[in-house]
Amino acid sequence: MVLSAAVGGGSVTGVFTVTGATIALAATVVVLIVVLALCLGGGGGMGAESPPPAPGASCIGGHLKIMTGETPPWIILNQIGKEQGDVMSLKLGHWVIMLNTLAAIKDAAVNFVKEMGSRPTNYTSNLLNENGKDISLGEYSHDWLLLRELGIKNLREFTANKKLEEIAHIVLKKLGDDLDQRENQPVNVKDIMVPAVAGILSHLCFGFDADPSIHDRVARLFGGGLYKYIVGPRLPVDVIPSLRFFPSRALSEAKATVNELNGLLRSEMKRHEESLDTAMTRDLMDGIIKCRNHARETEPDKYKFLTDTHVYQVISNYLGGTTAGFLVSSLTATALLVSNSDQQEKFSAEITKAVGEDRVPGLDDREELVYVKATIEEILRYACIAPISVPHKTTQDITFRGFKVPANTGVLCNFYGLHFNEEYWPEPFVFKPERFIDEDGKFKSDEHMYPFGYGARACLAQTEARQMIYLILSWLTHRYSLCRAPGEEDNDLLVQDPNVKVAKAVAPFNLVLKRRF
Ligand code: HEM
Repeated sequence: MVLSAAVGGGSVTGVFTVTGATIALAATVVVLIVVLALCLGGGGGMGAESPPPAPGASCIGGHLKIMTGETPPWIILNQIGKEQGDVMSLKLGHWVIMLNTLAAIKDAAVNFVKEMGSRPTNYTSNLLNENGKDISLGEYSHDWLLLRELGIKNLREFTANKKLEEIAHIVLKKLGDDLDQRENQPVNVKDIMVPAVAGILSHLCFGFDADPSIHDRVARLFGGGLYKYIVGPRLPVDVIPSLRFFPSRALSEAKATVNELNGLLRSEMKRHEESLDTAMTRDLMDGIIKCRNHARETEPDKYKFLTDTHVYQVISNYLGGTTAGFLVSSLTATALLVSNSDQQEKFSAEITKAVGEDRVPGLDDREELVYVKATIEEILRYACIAPISVPHKTTQDITFRGFKVPANTGVLCNFYGLHFNEEYWPEPFVFKPERFIDEDGKFKSDEHMYPFGYGARACLAQTEARQMIYLILSWLTHRYSLCRAPGEEDNDLLVQDPNVKVAKAVAPFNLVLKRRF
């Protein structure tokens, strides 16, 4: 998923290389036209019966400056939202509405599943999903629903019977051998989490018989170039689409990265098709090809939309969803555990008590590990990777909480306002796993938690994501004590990564690993 998938704007980055006076003049004209278009309708609101516009819109650019400033946009929008009530509207290139309260978000999640179930599109999203042929960035339609169903079915069936645990343990064993060589030395958190997260996902998707260089390329793509496009600032072309006609280094780099990914996916799909074994499903790529074959054989008319591109884009979505959701959460998780050593010790001690020192924690251990489950829930609350949500879009004209909202309006939710609201969570910025443990010492969930989004677009891998985060964190803290790097003892590890604009993500930091036994 692209976390900012067309908030219609957002911060822009990259170097725009203009060659020659004619192009420069043409670019200036285009920019002026766009500025004029933004200016017209900048502060006037969506219409008389529509949600009230948030204050602070400028004639030029509407509320876009909120998305581009130094302060993270969710902090500003949360402040504004507190005054505005259930719903407000913002001009971020296009008009979007923002749901500010639990009541409004619940209403959307329960009663407007289809009506708020689409996604806005932009240049980058069309580039990534080859014009709408995927789950994460595709617009809501009958065919899109069928593709999402196939994506879920494949994931559920392949990861049943502890396949995820089996693969995670193999990948983590190798990572442990590598990390042991770096014991007691500063290690960057990304050097732990990228191989762990991308390694598990890449093996889930492409199997153990893939060329090992495939897994390295997946780690490099998703830990680097694609991480930038998925959670980083928008490309200028997503704010001003006409810029696609002009040469741009940022755009060429984006195209090269997407071409590399799609080339890798196509060649892996071909390799899998040529060696497909009907009796055995080696990995998620085998699984989705079999889902496609079965759908074509049994209901050819219903699935005639299903091209090869749709098939490998599902795999791309597993990898992209993992990068955006899981990699970002795991960086914050490590920062929280290093910064809160008492909680880390309690977390590790509960695992060691249940598992001992001679084996690694498995999924069967999880049920009795109440403090571990509560800590992971507190991590998901604090990480809140999509603080203003991944944008949805309305599929039709609706009346929502008394307001008229036209079709194709972007929909944002103030999840930050729920996850950090002191009415629901006393001392919301303090890391307290105990919030999720009841008086009887049992794990308790909470209705103000929305780490995986909502409605038709809710994360399709919540079960697997919870399993993975448990498997990685329990393995890591059982084996190592995670300590602050020398000379960096007083650093705040929870500062926002300045290169990440729409996701809440900590800046990469160093830590030191010490074997516990
Ligand atoms: C801790 C880990 C994760 C978190 C916090 C997370 C969070 C999210 C969020 C907030 C969304 C957007 C929901 C919305 O628009 O309302 C999402 C969507 C998605 N996630 Fe995850 N995710 C995680 C792990 C994963 C993993 C491991 C996968 C794949 C194996 C995955 C695949 C997807 C996909 C494909 C979508 C798009 C769904 C759609 O548009 O229909 N996620 N995730």
